[in-house]
Amino acid sequence: MPDTLQTPAGHVRLGSNSGQPMTRRDGVAKVTGAATYAADNRPDGLAHAVFASAGIARGRVVSLNVEAAKSHPGVIEVITPDNRPALHLDPDGKSHPFSWRIEALQDKTVRYAGQPIALVVAETLEAATEGARLLAPEYETEPARIGFENGEAYDPPAVGIGGNPSFSKGNFDAGFSGSEHRIDASVDTPAQYHNAMEPHAIVAEWSGDHLVIDTPNQAIQMARGAFAGYFGIPPENVTLRSPFLGGGFGSKAIIVGPQILAILAARMLGRPVKLVLRRDQMFGPVQHRGATSQKLRIGTDGNGLIKALEHEATAATSSFDDFIEGAGNASLNMYASPAIITRHSAVRVDTGTPGPMRAPGEASGSAALEIAMDKAAEAVGMDPLEFRLRNYAETDPASGKSFSAKSLRECYELAAQKFGWSDRPLAPGEMRDENGMLVGWGMGSALFPAPMFAAQARATLRRDGTALVETSGADMGQGAWTALAQIAADGVGLPVDRIEFLSGTSDQPDGGIAGGSGHTASAGGALFEAGSNAVQKLADLATADPDSPLFGAGNTGVEAREGRLFRADDESRSESYADILERAGLETVDAMGSGGRDPANAEARAMFSHGAVFAEVKIDPDLFQIRVSRLIGAFAAGRIINPHLAKSQLTGGMIWGIGFALHEEGIHDLRSGRPLNADLAGYHVPVSADAPHVEALLVDEDDPYVNALGIKGVGEIGITGSVGAIANAVWHATGKRISSYPIHIDALLS
Ligand code: MOS
Repeated sequence: MPDTLQTPAGHVRLGSNSGQPMTRRDGVAKVTGAATYAADNRPDGLAHAVFASAGIARGRVVSLNVEAAKSHPGVIEVITPDNRPALHLDPDGKSHPFSWRIEALQDKTVRYAGQPIALVVAETLEAATEGARLLAPEYETEPARIGFENGEAYDPPAVGIGGNPSFSKGNFDAGFSGSEHRIDASVDTPAQYHNAMEPHAIVAEWSGDHLVIDTPNQAIQMARGAFAGYFGIPPENVTLRSPFLGGGFGSKAIIVGPQILAILAARMLGRPVKLVLRRDQMFGPVQHRGATSQKLRIGTDGNGLIKALEHEATAATSSFDDFIEGAGNASLNMYASPAIITRHSAVRVDTGTPGPMRAPGEASGSAALEIAMDKAAEAVGMDPLEFRLRNYAETDPASGKSFSAKSLRECYELAAQKFGWSDRPLAPGEMRDENGMLVGWGMGSALFPAPMFAAQARATLRRDGTALVETSGADMGQGAWTALAQIAADGVGLPVDRIEFLSGTSDQPDGGIAGGSGHTASAGGALFEAGSNAVQKLADLATADPDSPLFGAGNTGVEAREGRLFRADDESRSESYADILERAGLETVDAMGSGGRDPANAEARAMFSHGAVFAEVKIDPDLFQIRVSRLIGAFAAGRIINPHLAKSQLTGGMIWGIGFALHEEGIHDLRSGRPLNADLAGYHVPVSADAPHVEALLVDEDDPYVNALGIKGVGEIGITGSVGAIANAVWHATGKRISSYPIHIDALLS
């Protein structure tokens, strides 16, 4: 089969590397310990830093016992607002949409519990830890504002990263009041903390005006620019290495204050400095998913057709920054309705600032929307799946645009069939298992946008028949290094084991952002184009060379595979890359590529991945313990580069859905504002026993518009749909609608 030619529709045929269920190429390195994470770096002369955390949520630090800390053996320096160097940029300024206001010891104000208030640097981690304890801070304390009732309300100018805070189409009031069936739903979601397995960590070392940092990051070139900005040096003077991340989920996309502190310390001391956050220190300075309080109203006619849909969300943010969870926007693109209103308001509370956390906006929003849809189906007396199909959006409800591709119907069908949904009794409380457990079945629809980020890559074809392909992409465990290498290999027309794929440092071309579920599409597009461009250079050499069997094939074109170029119209005429390079007297030929999407398609089409999730829960009729016994989802996300890894991403998202529905909750003390459960014993995430049967199915989807490779994303969509499906299954088991996540036993007992 021919490999790498562009079809007239602008839709590229990939080669045989893509589509293979390869296992992770970095798997062996990870399980044998050969993979180096940021905190594994130990440059000569390394000093260790630990920050002291504010024990109050609002006020001022009035004293620190710096003398006690400094006299502890091994302590080298204590950095406080009294002696810290100034930063080149205001840490309370916003230089970039992807930047937060941060704490870098520039003043003595305390804005949340857990905020760094001093940094102790020592010869050992133990000495730094003890030094930080000896600081014994005293404060002027103001009352903490925690919870929606106590914060300061305001109208946010934007939600998420620059998203629209409100939307309206049609006449909601007329549609709702004229509806045969009207429901409303109130759903609260708590603060959630990313809790990647690898904590935020940094090793920073200066040599003159050049800074080398090892720190996990999801957007290497963007971070490099941000670090450079704070220290007033050109981005080229920063080398950022992030070859492996132990999870990120959004918390490592944007740089945070503790990283700046370690760099500051390294500059002050003229020594390399390492700072690794303790688990409890990750509940504050490194972002979280902000709490929401959502209200929905849905009106339907007698046939179950939605006439009006309203989704209002109040989101908690910090006192000093403005990241607002765009939960209401989940109702813009899923179900057809002649009238839709979404609206957001915000409340400032004294916590660390929220940021994007896996499926920002959609996860919280769909958790509420899918409950409202279930209530609406119940009001109509219709099966929940039938009700969703009745209100299937053939075009994007918000914009009216056609979808680039939408295979949600196929997702419903496949997952429902695999689940056995057709046997579901309509009324709740009718199923028991052989042990007498209450059994409930619920479902939810899944959706996530398919954004793309600017990305670049370089491909170098070598005379020995191999290729080097590079982009500064980020593999936080999702398998980017594998899927991107598969695309890169197809770009250069070689088997994946004949390419060297390098990624994860700032000296490579900008791989864009590993976020928004857009990394494979964005960096992948760049890698493929770089490879194709390099191959084209070879083709130009060969087709213009009378000594080549490809001479004169310029008009018919050539095809690349297995390290050879073939005449498109005559398979018998071919030549190896090595021979072409050798005759031309070249060791290598290289080219750059950039990803991206056709702007005309971007303007004309709505682009989303879709899915459907079905949940079975079993609930003890006396104790109301809830178990998710089965979770089955089907997803359509354009071209799947690696089905093995895509399923792993999707099941990971679905398991996150179990955590969202039943476990995860960051609790802050209302009086002190301190996080009460800042560890993995108190902050629960699902373990294997909580997820006995989680299955992700893939629906083939050809999306000719989303980008040249037809790739959408799979990283975040698994959460959406799953949360509501579980809540709806709880209702189906018990007849009780919950109004707040996570679903606690006591909500069912009352
Ligand atoms: Mo994600 S929350 O875009 O890393």
